[in-house]
Amino acid sequence: MGYVDIHSHILPCIDDGAQSVEESIALLEQEKANGVTSVICTPHFYPEVDELEAHLEKCAAAFKTLKAEIQHKELPNLYLGHEVQYFTGISKCQTLDKLCISGTNVLLLELPFLTPITSSIINEVKSIYHDLGINVILAHVERYAKDRHYKDIIKLIKAGDASAQINADSIISPITQKVTLKLIKGGLVSYIASDAHSLSQRPVLLNKAFILLKDKYYPQLTRCKKLSSKLEDMLEGV
Ligand SMILES: [Fe+2]
Repeated sequence: MGYVDIHSHILPCIDDGAQSVEESIALLEQEKANGVTSVICTPHFYPEVDELEAHLEKCAAAFKTLKAEIQHKELPNLYLGHEVQYFTGISKCQTLDKLCISGTNVLLLELPFLTPITSSIINEVKSIYHDLGINVILAHVERYAKDRHYKDIIKLIKAGDASAQINADSIISPITQKVTLKLIKGGLVSYIASDAHSLSQRPVLLNKAFILLKDKYYPQLTRCKKLSSKLEDMLEGV
């Protein structure tokens, strides 16, 4: 059974992730050592500063470069996606499918972090699924635990209007562990991902997180691994 890391900043020189092809390859080696068989590259898309077509072109070029560099190396398969920051009107955006994980209707969405979440944001997330038919994966849900609308985020997940992704390092860190374990215990987490940025800043810590979960949260971990494998099958079939 393969494992897909659905959230990573491994593409070279695109965002605050890998800053060279060499760093991208070192991170991919780390992914492989963590048992990852496929990596979805999800560079940040910031709607306030990124123009959509220019962003897509830039990412496609970096993706092509990295694919060419690793073609004779035994490293995980690469797929292109984006980590899309929420913007007002996102649920009406007719070109949102361009930012989905390549060949799918799955979108990795980052909610606002520095400004509070509002009920209209919650409603828009719901509409992305119901009106545009796009499956939303909420990136690092644990980050919003202190937001006053956190309960509404949880409701979205429970209702099946969005899926939850959490970061592997949040499971390990004593600061965020309580929140993430509560999400895992509740069976609310679909994807555990690295959100890898660099070997020093946020490396791939999936294995470490899995070891921590494997006894007490075995059924929940197994569910995440199965969903990951299902996604990999879907990607391979694209
Ligand atoms: Fe990220």
